[in-house]
Amino acid sequence: MQDQHLKDFLKEFNISDSQIQELYKRFTLEIRKGLSKATQKQADTKCFMTYVQDLPSGDEKGDFLALDLGGTNFRVLRVSLKGHHEAEIDFKVYAVPKEIMTGLGTQLFDHIANCLAEFVNEYSLGDQHLPLGFTFSFPCIQLGLTKGLLVRWTKGFQCAGVENEDVVSLLKEAIARRGDLVIEVMAILNDATGTLMSCAHRNPECRIGVIIGTGCNACYVERVENADLLEPEHKVDKTHILVNTEWGAFGESGQLEFVRTDYDRKVDKSSLNADTQLFEKMISGMYLGELVRLVLHDAIQANLIFVRSSDKKKFTNALAERVGCFETRFISEIENDSFPDFQQTRIILKEIFGLERASVEDCQKLRYICECISKRAAKLVAVGLSGLINKIGEPHVVVGVDGTVYRCHPHFDKYMRDAMRKLVSPKITFDLMLSEDGSGRGAALVAAVASKN
Ligand code: GLC
Repeated sequence: MQDQHLKDFLKEFNISDSQIQELYKRFTLEIRKGLSKATQKQADTKCFMTYVQDLPSGDEKGDFLALDLGGTNFRVLRVSLKGHHEAEIDFKVYAVPKEIMTGLGTQLFDHIANCLAEFVNEYSLGDQHLPLGFTFSFPCIQLGLTKGLLVRWTKGFQCAGVENEDVVSLLKEAIARRGDLVIEVMAILNDATGTLMSCAHRNPECRIGVIIGTGCNACYVERVENADLLEPEHKVDKTHILVNTEWGAFGESGQLEFVRTDYDRKVDKSSLNADTQLFEKMISGMYLGELVRLVLHDAIQANLIFVRSSDKKKFTNALAERVGCFETRFISEIENDSFPDFQQTRIILKEIFGLERASVEDCQKLRYICECISKRAAKLVAVGLSGLINKIGEPHVVVGVDGTVYRCHPHFDKYMRDAMRKLVSPKITFDLMLSEDGSGRGAALVAAVASKN
């Protein structure tokens, strides 16, 4: 893409190396604040204790149920751990209607219990009383493996009566209201924790789990002596603890203002949770498409793209009026397209926006806009991951990765690695591995490790 005017227009999305260094400094400081009792309250990244203190050995065996709430879908799973680092998984996806996402908490948990019952019946698991792991991917203060108080909703959920409550109790109450299920909830965990467990199950060098999906967050293995918030009894027999950083909240005290743009501010203001999760809003799938929509709209208005298109007016109106019309998956599809055909890009432009015969140049420009936004997201993830890798400080660190943005985007992995190479200490080598169903397998593993203890 050669157009200097468009490049200038998008300049503020291209975070420079020195800005990256500054972000790195601020991020690592925030994590240290989150870990310390004296400063956790003021920290954006709360670094919650997960009470998971063992990584899986790979020998775990047994059948488990798992629930997965907080990503694109709600799922119920049966996970059979087979030993030898292997697992077999069956699952069903259930919709969570918008009315339930923003309705009453009891309705949400009744819905979950109903789906669970349906699954148990369908798979004839009724008399097996399988232990259950609940992957609940929202920030929770954990008071143990089976108790987690929701701090606040994120990612478009907003159910009344759940914040500050123990989510496991709410689930149990809903199960009891049905009266026909006998289920033991063994653990509540975050998806980032599940991803770390599931990747460590396959690769013992895994120390970090990161989600780059609807939301963005990471969990990592910390030494107990650095876990100021962990009660002394949990430090007696154990050397480590998994920490849920909740890094999506980074920036809430202003540390990201020097790189945030007016587009980021707009996306934030029109979200259900304004002023929170600011790092996440520059990275995750729930928001990237929206950023492109707003930027593209203004770029067209400024006569930088689709200048000669006869449908231009229709296109700008659609972008202005239809919130969410530029889906995040379009970014992946557009960046995956090749010059000069831009087949997928043209399909999107035509089918979604009614724009016929886009020029090659316009397709290239659109791809450039997408690239600027996804590269920035990948760089920000790299800042966080490098901070954690250097903090862990082992000679080789493997990072387990999950989430639709990472999975579906053709170059996100490369963008991340390129940025990480500049930040990770030269004494450390790192690798990224794709998680295989972290929320399901991970939930079973946490339940399995819990029952071992
Ligand atoms: C949001 C949630 C966090 C979760 C992440 C990825 O950031 O607050 O708990 O891990 O999304 O799903």
